[in-house]
Amino acid sequence: CGIVGYIGAQEATAIVLAGLRELEYRGYDSAGLAVLEAGALRCFKAVGKLDNLVAKVGDYRSSGPVTAIGHTRWATHGKPTEANAHPHGLTHSQVVHNGIIENYLALRDSVDTPFLSQTDSEVIVHLFEQRLAQQQPGLSGALAAFRDTLAALRGAYAILLISETLPGHVFFARLGSPLQIGLAADGCHFASSDAAMVGVCATAVYLEDGQWGVAGTDGLQLFDATGAVVEPRLLPLPASSLAARKEGFRYFMEKEIYEQPQVLADILTGRLRDEAVTLDEFPSAWLANFSSVTLCACGTSYHAALAGSYLLERLARVPAKVEIASEFRYRDPVLDPRGLFVVISQSGETADTLEALKLAKAQGLATLALCNVDNSSMVREASQTLLLRAGIEKGVASTKAFSAQVMTLWLLALYWAQSRDTLDTARRVEEIAAMRRTLDVVRVQKPVHERLHRLSKRYLHGHGFFFIGRDLFYPLALEGALKLKEISYLHAEGYPAGEMKHGPIALADAELFTIALMARSTLYDKIKSNVEELSARDATIIAISTEDFELADDLIRIRAFEHPMLEFFEMLVVVQLLAMEIAIRLGNDVDMPRNLAKSVTVE
Ligand code: G6P
Repeated sequence: CGIVGYIGAQEATAIVLAGLRELEYRGYDSAGLAVLEAGALRCFKAVGKLDNLVAKVGDYRSSGPVTAIGHTRWATHGKPTEANAHPHGLTHSQVVHNGIIENYLALRDSVDTPFLSQTDSEVIVHLFEQRLAQQQPGLSGALAAFRDTLAALRGAYAILLISETLPGHVFFARLGSPLQIGLAADGCHFASSDAAMVGVCATAVYLEDGQWGVAGTDGLQLFDATGAVVEPRLLPLPASSLAARKEGFRYFMEKEIYEQPQVLADILTGRLRDEAVTLDEFPSAWLANFSSVTLCACGTSYHAALAGSYLLERLARVPAKVEIASEFRYRDPVLDPRGLFVVISQSGETADTLEALKLAKAQGLATLALCNVDNSSMVREASQTLLLRAGIEKGVASTKAFSAQVMTLWLLALYWAQSRDTLDTARRVEEIAAMRRTLDVVRVQKPVHERLHRLSKRYLHGHGFFFIGRDLFYPLALEGALKLKEISYLHAEGYPAGEMKHGPIALADAELFTIALMARSTLYDKIKSNVEELSARDATIIAISTEDFELADDLIRIRAFEHPMLEFFEMLVVVQLLAMEIAIRLGNDVDMPRNLAKSVTVE
């Protein structure tokens, strides 16, 4: 999502729309803006691309002095409808919000004003108006009401709020979701990301967590979480808007790898209790009806499907089959009429997967789509949807969408297990505790990234890479190999470690680079023997492991975790970064690899 705001004498709709245009790369399924001009609020909202909002605004132009706020949304709570689009208003105020208000249900119950949307964000404006009514009129009363509102919120937020009761002011706050204020000759600008400010302001105040305050034509008042006054510190903005969108990273792919903790946090929000998973999208009883599950996808999403099949069988004991969509379509497949058909797709538009979905639907199967883009073709076609909540993915080589898919499948497997009662409470508690820990596990550790950068220079040649793993680490091996070949153009294969002896071992020599995913949690001794066999034939071994392994030519040491999924996510980050570092050294544009497209909508 993206936030933009403005106070000043310039025409405000053009400023806000231009800012939103720069933030569109972060996701859009609806957008809106509110302008406070001559003491009265006007609000415009539209579903879909920003152009739809531009059309809604039509000929309207503000004449200063004005305050204005705007937002582009990427749905997490509630469908992308006009009512769910920001700003959210009540009688005299409007608010835009990024982040998640975790206690919004409890807060909704604490006010008696009626709600218009299904979002968590709307509660902010209700709380503010309720608290403002208890204060003296004027700025200090409004500040107290805003402070009390923030005190009630649990979760993460970047907030801008404007009110007819206090024209010429914008209230703002940040906790766990970025927000900055730019000071320019024409007024004061707000944005959730640099991209909306480049070329508009030269310097900005980057708010820190817990900071909040009010900006007016008469200046800026900034406070910390305790209410103490903070002196604003101005920092220079990046020079180009492309650089700004990459937020300090060299490539979108790198930024997206680093975003994974936030993505996993968004996926888990509101879905975990201490002993159970809840998905609002459908009741777990719905799942109990199905006698099997078929998972169908392409590319990286296919690898997530494969990992999902291990989880679904292991946790929910439901027979799981995985299909490559392009094969499935023409195979005249025999389908289980009582089975659930699941498609997995970042874009929701991949032609082969979409056709496979239509085929299963035509045969009368119940269908579920795991997609990152709401309102995409697959979301519209399937009977049920789980949105991935990964935000827009720009890098052609998928990274954060893959983690989102695996995490969502893990949640689904546990939810399904609850409906079939296949796990005891202790085991469920263990799974949920592990889910919560993944957020830390996927946070890139600087020394690991630096080590992979150094190591990458030794692996820019050779006649091929074999990524090998067993069990869950086999789909991960496939994904590691795909990442490397997509962006480095080197030949790489993913293979089940136990299968190497049935053919590929014939390739082994010093120029065959074997990346061994040696998970301590899963069949460690088995993969160790597989690697020993390869080493005995002179293959070069790059071991990813918690353990010392004397046969490794290079050892990438990872942290020890008991739970296989924690090892999975830990190793995922390593293979993503390794592929990226090798490709960058080879001089490739990792965001736009040759011959590939982000979404393949033709056969
Ligand atoms: C293309 C992309 C891959 C992606 C695949 C499936 O080939 O280059 O990165 O994994 O499509 O895309 P989907 O949007 O269905 O997940």
